Amino acid sequence: MAFEQNVEELERRRRESELGGGQQRIDRQHSEGKLTARERIALLFDPGSFQELDQLVVHRSQDFGMDKQRVAGDGVVTGYGTVQGRLVYAFAQDFTVFGGSLSETHAAKIVKIMDLAMKNGAPVIGLNDSGGARIQEGVVSLGGYADIFLRNTLASGVVPQISAIMGPCAGGAVYSPAITDFILMVKNTSYMFVTGPDVIRTVTHEEVTKEKLGGAETHNQVSGVAHFAAESDEDCLALIRELLSYVPSNNMEEAPRVATNDDVNRVDAQLDAFIPESPNQPYEMRELIKTIADEGHFFEVHQHYARNLVVGFIRLNGYSVGVVANQPAFLAGVLDIDASRKGARFVRFCDSFNIPLLVLEDVPGFLPGVGQEYGGIIIHGAKLLYALAEATVPKVTVITRKAYGGAYCVMNSKHIRADMNYAYPTAEIAVMGAEGAVNILYRNAPGNREEKVAEFKEKFANPYIAAERGYIDEIIEPRFTRRKLITAFAMLRNKRDRNPPKKHGNIPL
Ligand code: HXC
Repeated sequence: MAFEQNVEELERRRRESELGGGQQRIDRQHSEGKLTARERIALLFDPGSFQELDQLVVHRSQDFGMDKQRVAGDGVVTGYGTVQGRLVYAFAQDFTVFGGSLSETHAAKIVKIMDLAMKNGAPVIGLNDSGGARIQEGVVSLGGYADIFLRNTLASGVVPQISAIMGPCAGGAVYSPAITDFILMVKNTSYMFVTGPDVIRTVTHEEVTKEKLGGAETHNQVSGVAHFAAESDEDCLALIRELLSYVPSNNMEEAPRVATNDDVNRVDAQLDAFIPESPNQPYEMRELIKTIADEGHFFEVHQHYARNLVVGFIRLNGYSVGVVANQPAFLAGVLDIDASRKGARFVRFCDSFNIPLLVLEDVPGFLPGVGQEYGGIIIHGAKLLYALAEATVPKVTVITRKAYGGAYCVMNSKHIRADMNYAYPTAEIAVMGAEGAVNILYRNAPGNREEKVAEFKEKFANPYIAAERGYIDEIIEPRFTRRKLITAFAMLRNKRDRNPPKKHGNIPL
């Protein structure tokens, strides 16, 4: 065969692979508001940088007429490229080929790029759009899933793993995204569940739609399984690109520094009046975060779940910082089960990947209630405590107002190895609020209640006793917060701390 013919044959095979399940199925994908696997890859990576691997892989199944249906690529596009110039691996399931279902060879393609990512220290992005295990292949397909789960687990804390759900993701297939660091879901076109509405109807007689059971809103607001709800495929891929900009490529590196024109000495006089005088008056903690951050930008994670705690990334003098903040504007910023789980997971991500932590504290305590106790607030609250205590990255706290009770200890106190602890003059560091304290202390001696409350406030509703003990390193005027934090994190840049040698700790799961 002449060389030209050889090349023609190669091009024919490539074209065939690129057409996936055919134009009709591509049109159906588009009509449902979804992009194809290749269109998604093109938007995720820097233009022209993606290198596809295993484009010509086909399945080996002979049963159920599968020997006559062989599509090159086998329902998943895999490879590597760059995002903002940095190496990233990705797989994108192609719903037009056997519904993106996972066969032995489809799994092997994903495993190959995961192994490469581990060897070369770069993130893995999974774009999921699949009918689950390839039904015609049976247990071989299940084995393929388990091969991926193992790698997800081993890669956890070594390279960042991000899952986008851009179509169906059901049954055991959900457990790969669940092990990864972040899950993004596209509104209206994606869903995740372990068992679908039909099985639920049979087993528990509950009626529920796919969307209500496992759509983007449900998992972002109710279950907390997903961290981001994207408006569209395009929005989802842009969010992944932005998320990657805050994280390092692997656990041996630091997150990239992004140049900023924002003055490190910027002073914000308005902040001095930002915290309301009354301890019961809410304020929007995200406003404070934005005021401190470079260019006023806060990339919030898990925005719709457990809104009493805010988590996400900012940059300070160009360096990525993970923020964990009580939100007085929602449930008074109380810590409950959901908020504790949310915070703990985020803290562990940051600590795994060398991202310094900033804790902004205004917390009245843990949420009382039978429901919370029965739900295991003891164990779940301990997750946040454990995560912050074990973290060895630079850790800085600012107490803006309330730091009451156990929550004072949990929220990155000096006692659990915070490096720098600041408080505003408005801070109240006490076992509980003045009213509650007086109710308990003077329960049997009703005297001048008002007077006792005032006395308690005078004594404890301030940061000075903690400062006298050195639990607070410095009391700062709010207007200088940005400057103080940048100086503190610069001082901590070369921090070295480690935990005692062990196989791994036993975080209260
Ligand atoms: C093989 C599959 C498939 C699968 C879909 N297809 N799922 N082929 N194995 N699991 C094929 C269909 O036959 C169809 O082929 C094409 O993909 C598109 O599917 P449609 O049904 O036409 O699409 P839609 O109406 O959008 O419905 C999507 C769907 C439905 C809801 C995902 O296809 C579905 O229910 N599939 C089965 C889901 C499932 O039960 N999977 C196993 C789950 S258990 P044609 O040729 O017509 O285009 C599991 C265990 C994992 O995954 C365990 C890990 C431990």
